[in-house]
Amino acid sequence: MNNPILIGFMGAGKTTVGQELAKELNQPFCDLDHAIEEHLGQSIPSYFEAQGETAFREVEKERLAAHLSTENVLATGGGTACQKANQMLLIEDERPVIWLSASDETTIANLSGEDWAKRPILADKTPRDVSNLKASREDAYRQTADIVINVDQKSSKAIAQEIISYLQSNQ
Ligand code: S3P
Repeated sequence: MNNPILIGFMGAGKTTVGQELAKELNQPFCDLDHAIEEHLGQSIPSYFEAQGETAFREVEKERLAAHLSTENVLATGGGTACQKANQMLLIEDERPVIWLSASDETTIANLSGEDWAKRPILADKTPRDVSNLKASREDAYRQTADIVINVDQKSSKAIAQEIISYLQSNQ
């Protein structure tokens, strides 16, 4: 079975579900944001502040390509699948691409407090701005994914099980 790649907006639970999924599948897990931070030797917010988003997207693209050649369960960042070049890489990859989709309510609730502050894309954004940004990215997620899983009111365990059922029925 090919290990899946998780895409979706910030706060959809890509990292938590990815970890759960990797545990259930007994496979290694990689969080792309974490891999980028290790590669840069600094946090994403501080890199954004020093170099800006365009530079971040270049590093993200390069790290995505590097990690697609591994067999990890991979959780991408919220903007990864929205960059054309990344979208092509993800579509061409044989592995199943799973879009974790959350309602605006779930997204805002999951991004409250510290989680909001540590994401540079959310700096100075109101909840309405976040809904608009999320809406503007949904076509890209839809075009890139093999399947969409709605995550509202589901535990990460339940979401991981839903993904595993999908993977088993598509072997
Ligand atoms: C981003 C989402 C973040 C991270 C970076 C940019 C985005 O990942 O890659 O801050 O553009 O949506 P998470 O979705 O894991 O927060």
